[in-house]
Amino acid sequence: VDVDTTGPHAGRMLDFYLGGTLHTPADRAAARKMLAVNPHLITSARANRRFIDRTVRYLVGQGVTQFLDLGSGIPVRTPEYANLHETALAADPACRVVYVDNDPVVRAHADELLRGTGQGRAVYVEADVAEGAALYRHPDIAAVLDLDRPVAVSMNALLHFFASDDRARTLVEAFTAPLASGSHLTLTHITRDWAPEVMDALVRLYRKDVTDGGARSREQIQGLVTGLDILAPGVVNLADWRPGPGDDPLPAEQVNLYGLVARVP
Ligand SMILES: C[S@@+](CC[C@H](N)C(=O)[O-])C[C@H]1O[C@@H](n2cnc3c(N)ncnc32)[C@H](O)[C@@H]1O
Repeated sequence: VDVDTTGPHAGRMLDFYLGGTLHTPADRAAARKMLAVNPHLITSARANRRFIDRTVRYLVGQGVTQFLDLGSGIPVRTPEYANLHETALAADPACRVVYVDNDPVVRAHADELLRGTGQGRAVYVEADVAEGAALYRHPDIAAVLDLDRPVAVSMNALLHFFASDDRARTLVEAFTAPLASGSHLTLTHITRDWAPEVMDALVRLYRKDVTDGGARSREQIQGLVTGLDILAPGVVNLADWRPGPGDDPLPAEQVNLYGLVARVP
């Protein structure tokens, strides 16, 4: 892996919270500092993963077989947590999945993990999501996604890197406007609504040691999604989004993430 591994990296720290094996000593040291501020981060990261899993299975159940995962992060390799493409392909082997991220560390691991799958229908594209709808003309994306049929676009734990509400809303619009009816948007986002002091301290520490980012309120997150039908149960603690049999209820002040699924009318 020919990338700088001296400092902590948010993606590998997430891998640590999920019980993966890709993290470095610097990642673990930073992650432990975060856990001292918010010991529920592990619960939160895992609940986010389970939400992704449930929503992908829900969407395949709705007949959606094309996925564009923006800000995909490092694919995890743990027995407990599947990656989006693995969940989708297990539900329907005809699924097509495009991962997009702009981080060279993610690129290095994505190549390695996708190479191992033997699946021709999951691809990784290194690109900046700030490019918006122009990404649909990227040759590697256009080759995989057919915009005449429904696509599920996910922005999971991504938009907190875009501090301006206008900018974040524009991105949601850019990626959903070109989509066929029956397409969907999935979104998760950190919030300070339920544990303001802890989350403020955590965001401050991430900004200082790792990466930029910010929380949003429920109203702000709802306001990012215009012109789409937000499905029941709405913009909720993502552990409460249509939980399955294995999903125990988790207190909102431990999860600190909203989740939503919206449909393109
Ligand atoms: C917190 S991780 C979320 C990973 C995964 N979606 C999840 O929910 O578990 C956010 C990812 O977004 C990526 N990201 C941030 N800004 C981006 C941008 N402008 N273009 C592409 N990817 C971006 C980061 O590199 C990181 O891998």
